Amino acid sequence: MRIGVYICHCGLNIAHTINVVSLQEKVNDLEDATVVRDIQFMCSDSGQESIIKDIKENELDRVLVAACSPHLHEPTFKRVLTKAGLNPFLLEMVNIREQCSWVHQEEPQMATQKAFDLIRMGIARLKLLDPLEIEKVEVTKDVLVIGGGVAGIEAALTLADSGYHVYMVEKEPTIGGKMALLNEVFPTNDCSICVLAPKMTDVQNHPNIDLITMAEVSEVTGSVGNFHVTVKQKPRYVDEDKCKGCVEECGGVCPVEVSNPFDFGLGKAKAINMPIPQAVPQVVYIDSKYCVGCGLCKQACPADAIDYEQKEETLEFTVGAIVLATGYKLFDASRKPEYGYGIYPDVITNMELERLLNAAGPTRGRVLVPSTGDVPHKVAFIQCVGSRDEKVDNPYCSRVCCMSSMKNAQLLKERYPDMDITIHYIDIRASGEMYEEYYIRTQSMGINFTRGRVAEILPEDSGRLSLRYEDTLAGEIHEDPYDMVILATGMETVSDADQISRVLNLTTRSDRFFSIAHPKMRPVDSHVKGIYIAGCASGPKEIQVSIAQGSAAASKVMQLLSKGELESDPLSAHVNPDACIGCSICADVCQFNKISMIDHKAVVDELSCMGCGACSASCPSDAISMRNSTDEQIFSQIRAATEVKSQFPLIIAFLCNWCSYKCADLAGTSRVQYPSNIRTIKVMCAGRVDPAFVLEAFEQGADGVLVAGCRLGECHYIFANYNAKHRMEALQEVLKDIGIDPERLKVEWLSAAEGEKFANTIEDMVEYLEKIGPIGSELLEEPQ
Ligand code: FES
Repeated sequence: MRIGVYICHCGLNIAHTINVVSLQEKVNDLEDATVVRDIQFMCSDSGQESIIKDIKENELDRVLVAACSPHLHEPTFKRVLTKAGLNPFLLEMVNIREQCSWVHQEEPQMATQKAFDLIRMGIARLKLLDPLEIEKVEVTKDVLVIGGGVAGIEAALTLADSGYHVYMVEKEPTIGGKMALLNEVFPTNDCSICVLAPKMTDVQNHPNIDLITMAEVSEVTGSVGNFHVTVKQKPRYVDEDKCKGCVEECGGVCPVEVSNPFDFGLGKAKAINMPIPQAVPQVVYIDSKYCVGCGLCKQACPADAIDYEQKEETLEFTVGAIVLATGYKLFDASRKPEYGYGIYPDVITNMELERLLNAAGPTRGRVLVPSTGDVPHKVAFIQCVGSRDEKVDNPYCSRVCCMSSMKNAQLLKERYPDMDITIHYIDIRASGEMYEEYYIRTQSMGINFTRGRVAEILPEDSGRLSLRYEDTLAGEIHEDPYDMVILATGMETVSDADQISRVLNLTTRSDRFFSIAHPKMRPVDSHVKGIYIAGCASGPKEIQVSIAQGSAAASKVMQLLSKGELESDPLSAHVNPDACIGCSICADVCQFNKISMIDHKAVVDELSCMGCGACSASCPSDAISMRNSTDEQIFSQIRAATEVKSQFPLIIAFLCNWCSYKCADLAGTSRVQYPSNIRTIKVMCAGRVDPAFVLEAFEQGADGVLVAGCRLGECHYIFANYNAKHRMEALQEVLKDIGIDPERLKVEWLSAAEGEKFANTIEDMVEYLEKIGPIGSELLEEPQ
């Protein structure tokens, strides 16, 4: 093998602590190190050029760069190899800056020794690297958008306008979601349907959008670029192409009157009905739960559109990506019995008030006390009904209820200036653009705010409602009569969230909303490649944020599919079918469901594999491995680290690529000092650490082993670090059984911001290991 080794001075960043000249001399003596150079700045143009020149002139077949963190310049040097005509995966970067020269400034000799050890470990791995190829797979540019609320509409139109064909699947008979039912929207108090309806119509008329209503996605197979989708569409019993939307004809003769679900029971509807006047499509539907089959609508329909023979249909198509925009459901206020919702007719919800205020609603915009039909004089809003409430298992804030109640209070005050309105709140949350100003305006309109949770609502003999509450600012208990009470109900995840998660292989959080890949940095990515989440499907949010997420998800889809092909990640897992015993443990461990069992053999969907390596660590027959981080490569690093035991205690540290490695890097950039006793092996996830690696480290003479990953619950591969935790805990028991002090194995969960904690962990380990002595010393003790 002909390896080029390049040691960077990084000005004085490395050379100030590490004796680069002596390091170079030592590396020169290593087998296969054909060219060894020290360069002032490796990443500079001249540094890069010298590598290219060496590769060509000296016919190098692998390159090791000892410099800064691979997180900084690995892509740079991969490009250098490509430019020189060498496979970019034949590169190894050794971190002698953030994790060596910067953190061991007080022990330059040991830092130089550690740098040498790290280079030896790097060369050992480098020799076993394979030249990996990136495969290209053709993808379809069609996209599935699930949910026709405002987030889904925005995503669909953005994609369709950019030339992508969209299937929009909506389970209701109309698109528009909750926004189509609102009266006005804060903070501008625009008419909600006026701003939404044009977009709803655009969806229907867009040549690139297939709108499929009354339908649900029942199955998705395949993976990013080529998801095969099955949709079940319920019968509408009305021919969409023939219906002219003249609901007065069919609805006028229908003898069945039921509560209108789109008015939340406040208004009436017929068994054949148009969901809302602005429905898209403008087509009636028959609610089969209530239809008595009298045939009157069929006789009355001038377009001959009624079709009782319609059956559920199955549609199948292939898409390259999916946008999930299924929205939310409202908290059921009857779960708070102390407020008497469903018992006292004059206790209604904010959404019901929206329908009453709405000119197209059941009262044509007049707000009347349901029990008397009078205009209410005294009105109370109760905030946080079903939000920030552990008792109903919803500890989160629903984010829009404060603003929504203020908006409705403003509208009531404008319509009925004498109305006495009080908002009972716990905390007012008004932190969006223009929201504080909106809050001040609400107060200045004479609307009262009382801080404190309302304990209960009781009926009075007069027919009014008595609210019992504590005013926590005044420290007083009150009982006040009201004519009408409006509950600001919170948002919950949709009822079919579990079913959707199963179909799409998504995960949900403890609040039952769909999990996104990272709550800050990847707000619309799911954990599944090619599936994006927009709007309230991932948690409560305002309309403008839902719209922004709809367009963000659309642009992610375009970024993914625009080239018409995808590159497979060569860092994926890979199965050796001859070694696979068909136990399916790997399939159970894979958080992303990317391993299937076919003919009793594990098969990895390599295009969608996230590359965490948890499967590989769990495989009992070593049949599954990572293409760029094989077991052999890791064993070779362990052996190289322990081959020359240059320090006592010697600690092998397995750090996950994301938080814990970055946390060690941060210790370096912050110049936090810690003992030089650790030799790091970077793995993608703590879940990749096979217990065999730890045992091998001890067997080869390591005095301690550190396995560090992201904080529990924050693993970049969902819960793979929990796998690591359980494995390492079980391993500690094994260590005890074989006479090794289990404390020699330390497991730590770190955020990328905890550089100091990382340094303290190493210090504590060194102190403990110094106390108990080198590996094997406990075996010399008398058995108890
Ligand atoms: Fe850090 Fe999984 S990625 S522990």
